[in-house]
Amino acid sequence: MNEDERVISSEIQDNSEESAEKSLRPQTLSQYIGQDQIKHELSVYIEAAKNRNEALDHVLLYGPPGLGKTTLAMVIAREMGVNIRTTSGPAIEKSGDLVALLNELQPGDILFIDEIHRLPKMVEEMLYSAMEDFFVDIVVGQGPTAHPIHFPLPPFTLIGATTRAGVLSAPLRDRFGIVEHMNYYTEKDLTEIVKRSADIFQTNIKDEGAHEVASRSRGTPRIANRLLKRIRDFAQVENMSSINQSIVDRSLKLLGVDDRGLDEVDKKVLMTMIELYGGGPVGIKTIAANIGEDSETISEMYEPYLLQIGFIKRTPRGRMVTDRAYEHFGIPSIDSKE
Ligand SMILES: Nc1ncnc2c1ncn2[C@@H]1O[C@H](COP(=O)(O)OP(=O)(O)O)[C@@H](O)[C@H]1O
Ligand SMILES: [Mg+2]
Repeated sequence: MNEDERVISSEIQDNSEESAEKSLRPQTLSQYIGQDQIKHELSVYIEAAKNRNEALDHVLLYGPPGLGKTTLAMVIAREMGVNIRTTSGPAIEKSGDLVALLNELQPGDILFIDEIHRLPKMVEEMLYSAMEDFFVDIVVGQGPTAHPIHFPLPPFTLIGATTRAGVLSAPLRDRFGIVEHMNYYTEKDLTEIVKRSADIFQTNIKDEGAHEVASRSRGTPRIANRLLKRIRDFAQVENMSSINQSIVDRSLKLLGVDDRGLDEVDKKVLMTMIELYGGGPVGIKTIAANIGEDSETISEMYEPYLLQIGFIKRTPRGRMVTDRAYEHFGIPSIDSKE
């Protein structure tokens, strides 16, 4: 480790969480851990587009928060060797905002729209022609002098990210040539991510420690990195030279993260369902109201993982807690016959 690198990394430690997050982002497909199928497909499409000297087809990335959608959009730009402009659905309020963004693109550039399911309808409709035929029709002037102008655009790539592909309108979804569903990471991949992040933080971590963090991060790199940062603090204060399983265990206990990686909110969701609704069925809105959380937060950030590990299931009449969840909490289920 040379002097320069040390200076850089001490800066990272002093700066905000945001800059730490930036430094942790992989830059290239080969640094991007896991999601092998998606990486493989994208590498083919990227190479083909580059060989033809064309813009990459529009890409839709969907999946729960923290799985690496924004990171992947940046990686794609880097691999294509083009600029990327990033914005989000709610930030584009008027059609004029979209035109301004599109106007700045060079041929082949990427426009990244996060939370694309939250685009205003007018803006979304304007995107249709932009995506399909690279033009927009804008109306200039007012009243009797108002007239449409046909505004050609350079070929560009739109990358959209959403946590909820289901709520995207069909016309918008159909205009993405490449649609990738991001999955929760395996423990093996997450362990690698934890080790890589520890490396960037210049923190020693034992294999068992990295594995323990991984197994309690809900399949999500952002959570793994967040937990690692806190555990690193505990290890530092306790003067430990490296992070082992026991310090991970003790830190996570203090942070209220249990052995399955469930946090206080997960527990509240499940316990509300169990204690107030006899395990369900109960609607997401009702659960959210009971624990004072936003129902979108519950359905986007908490429910998908609880479904994934089989702690709740969807039924036509609402969500139900499964026997597996009852077992996890050591509570006998009412109808264990099921
Ligand atoms: N495949 C990956 N390999 C390594 N780190 C990753 C990977 N995916 C995500 N991360 C880390 O997780 C953090 C969250 O990723 P991000 O792209 O912001 O997620 P999303 O946009 O899906 O919410 C990033 O800062 C990055 O450090
Ligand atoms: Mg993001």
